[in-house]
Amino acid sequence: MRRKTRSCCSPSCRPPAGRRGSLSLLLAGLLLLSGCGGKEEGLRIGTALYTKDDTFISTVAQNLEGMVREAESETGRQITLFLSDSESRQSTQMDQVDRFLNRGCDVLCINLVDRTAAAVIVDKAEAEGVPLIFFNRQPVAEDIQRWDGVYYVGADARESGELQGGLVLDAWRADRETLDRNGDGVLQYVMLEGEPGHQDSLLRTEYAVKAVTDGGVEVEKLASETANWNRAQAAARTAQWLEEFGDGIEVIFANNDDMALGAIDALADTPRDRWPLIVGVDATAPALEAVAVGQLYGTVLNDSRGQARAMMDLALALWNGEDPARAVELTDGHYVWLPYRPVTLENLEEFLEA
Ligand code: BGC
Ligand code: CA
Repeated sequence: MRRKTRSCCSPSCRPPAGRRGSLSLLLAGLLLLSGCGGKEEGLRIGTALYTKDDTFISTVAQNLEGMVREAESETGRQITLFLSDSESRQSTQMDQVDRFLNRGCDVLCINLVDRTAAAVIVDKAEAEGVPLIFFNRQPVAEDIQRWDGVYYVGADARESGELQGGLVLDAWRADRETLDRNGDGVLQYVMLEGEPGHQDSLLRTEYAVKAVTDGGVEVEKLASETANWNRAQAAARTAQWLEEFGDGIEVIFANNDDMALGAIDALADTPRDRWPLIVGVDATAPALEAVAVGQLYGTVLNDSRGQARAMMDLALALWNGEDPARAVELTDGHYVWLPYRPVTLENLEEFLEA
C-alpha cells in the first residue's frame, strides 16, 4: 500500500538503523523548520457526514468529537477533526473530500451520501496514500477491496432486522390476545422504510418480517413505504395509514427510531383507546424516553458510541503506522462490525445509564 509520506516525531517514523546517522542532521533541520510537535505535526481527521440533520449520524459525530478531545489529552498530541456536512449531495461531498486531501488530512472518515459513489473516493484517497474509513453507509465489497487502505465501520443490517422482528415475536407470544386486535390469528402490520437503496432499509425490512414468520406467525402487510429515515415524513405516512386502516394496524415496524417517533407523533394527534405496537432501531435518546413512557415498545441499539470508538482507534493506529488489526477487531482485513442489542422496558436502565 502506498502511504502518504510525512515528517513525524513518532518512533514508528524512524528510518532503518543503517540510515539513521546519515539522515539525522537533515531530519533535525526539517523538524526545526516544521516545528515538530506543533500543530502541523498533529493528526488531522477529515470527516464528512451525509447530512448533519440525521439524529443517528449527529450522535456518531458528537461521540467522535468527544473521543478526539479525550485522545488529545491522553496522548498529549494535537488532533484536529474537520467535520463537514454534505447536505445530502454527493457532489458536495466530493468537493469536501478534495478539500480534506488538500489540507493534508491523515485519515478520512466518510459517511457516503450515495453508496455507489465510493470507488471515486477510494481512488482519490489511494492516490494520496491517505487511509479511508467509510461508516454507516456501506459501499459494495468490490469498492472496499479496491485498496487495502480502505475500511468500513458499521453494524450488520440483517442482525438489526432479526432483533427487531424478535421483539415483535416475543410480544405476540407473551400477549397474543392484546396484539391480535381483530382475533384472526394473523399479525397485520405497516412498515416505515428508510431511504431507498440503503443497506439498512432493505435488510431491516426483510429480516424483521422474516423473524416473525420464521417464528411461526402469519403476517399480513397492510402497507410498506419509505419515509427516508425522517420523523416528519413518517408522521405524514402514518397519519394516512391511520385514516385508511384505522385500528386494523396491529404493529408498526420502523427502520429507525426517528420514523418510529414520527408514527408516535401521528398517533398522539388522533386520540384513540389503543395504540398499535411500535418498534424502531437505533436507541437514540428520544427513543429511549419513548420506551420509558410506554409509547415505543422497543428498539435495537445501533451502537453510535462503539462505531465512533472504532473509527478513532483505527485512525490513531493508522496514523501511528501500527497494525490496525491490533487496535480493532478486523474482519477480512477491512470491516469492523459492532453488535446490535435489543432494548425494551425490561433492560432500559442499562441503556439510559450508558
Ligand atoms: C440509522 C438511521 C440513519 C441512517 C443514516 C442507519 O443506520 O439506523 O437512523 O438515518 O443509518 O444513514
Ligand atoms: Ca390480526
